[in-house]
Amino acid sequence: MKKVAIFASGSGSNAENIINYFENDTENVVKIVFCNKPNAYVLERAKRLGVPSFVFNRDEFYHSGLVINELRRLEIDFIVLAGFMWKVPDAIIEAYPDRIVNIHPALLPSYGGKGMYGMHVHDAVIAAGEKESGITIHYVNGHYDEGAALFQAKCTITPEDTPDTLAEKVHALEYEHFPRVIKEVLEKL
Ligand code: GAR
Repeated sequence: MKKVAIFASGSGSNAENIINYFENDTENVVKIVFCNKPNAYVLERAKRLGVPSFVFNRDEFYHSGLVINELRRLEIDFIVLAGFMWKVPDAIIEAYPDRIVNIHPALLPSYGGKGMYGMHVHDAVIAAGEKESGITIHYVNGHYDEGAALFQAKCTITPEDTPDTLAEKVHALEYEHFPRVIKEVLEKL
């Protein structure tokens, strides 16, 4: 059984979708949700779904080693960043080579990098008058949004779209594709 940890910072709708997808999987299990925000709604979702959670602060993530120790203690095999807004420290990236994936709400390499997350991305895409956006699922390396891409899907932007309606379109693509792509990567481990 491969053990998966999800990292999330906010609402956690992707985390919930992934937990539900793997609920009856006989080869993979979502063991825990790691969260850097004590008030994030993802924690309520995890509780409702019966998945343990672990809240950590900046020092515990970047300096004290508490988070990596917990990953080791739980024998986590694979990490999914699902709406996680902090850069992953090198120690964790080195401990999980090609075993961390992220979803980005745009077509990387466009609209990626520091400061480009969540609604900021959709604001920028709409402001630039783009005709399409989408999702990128990629491996995580030491640079924001630069790891090798695993999968992209596109959606069309109409003149009526706002950052909020674009976010809905992008979320729909995320729910459709992210769990399946995770499953495919896990099968190759
Ligand atoms: C998702 O759209 C995800 O792609 C994005 O945050 C949203 C989280 O939604 N991630 C990033 O911007 C990472 N740089 P959720 O909390 O409802 O899953």
